[in-house]
Amino acid sequence: MAKTPEILLLNGPNLNMLGTRQPEVYGRATLADVEAMCQARAKELGLALDCRQSNSEGEIVGWVQAVRGKCAGIVINPGAYSHTSVAILDALLAVDAPVVEVHLSNIHRREAFRHHSYVSQAAHGVICGFGAEGYLMALDGLAQLIDTGKKV
Ligand code: DQA
Repeated sequence: MAKTPEILLLNGPNLNMLGTRQPEVYGRATLADVEAMCQARAKELGLALDCRQSNSEGEIVGWVQAVRGKCAGIVINPGAYSHTSVAILDALLAVDAPVVEVHLSNIHRREAFRHHSYVSQAAHGVICGFGAEGYLMALDGLAQLIDTGKKV
């Protein structure tokens, strides 16, 4: 039987505060709720999911480096590092698996400094503005990519 494809789900700084942090912007689901939803969807899709969160840029870079050649895809919400981190961009560019960038909020409707994401340059696709549902969309999209091997 073929090995279950592994997906890394990464959440960046302050996303450990989900549920209580600006719920009018980010919703009331906690990170644990989001990860549980994602685990359930991954199971349905036949994917193994490794969920991690860090407030540290270096730790995120380390995790991305460690999955090189080992994972079938990455879903990442880099939080504020989206708008600042060339280091996370470079780490993702070195990974040979598809990356989907997720933002709970629609970053383009918000302050100008949120409109640009360095990480988007390494992303196969970007989903923003759908709240926690966006993570599930990302997993659906990755499952399709892995299945078909098709890059659009
Ligand atoms: C965010 C948007 C970022 O601008 C912000 O810094 C976050 C969360 C989102 O999910 O909407 O921390 O990535």
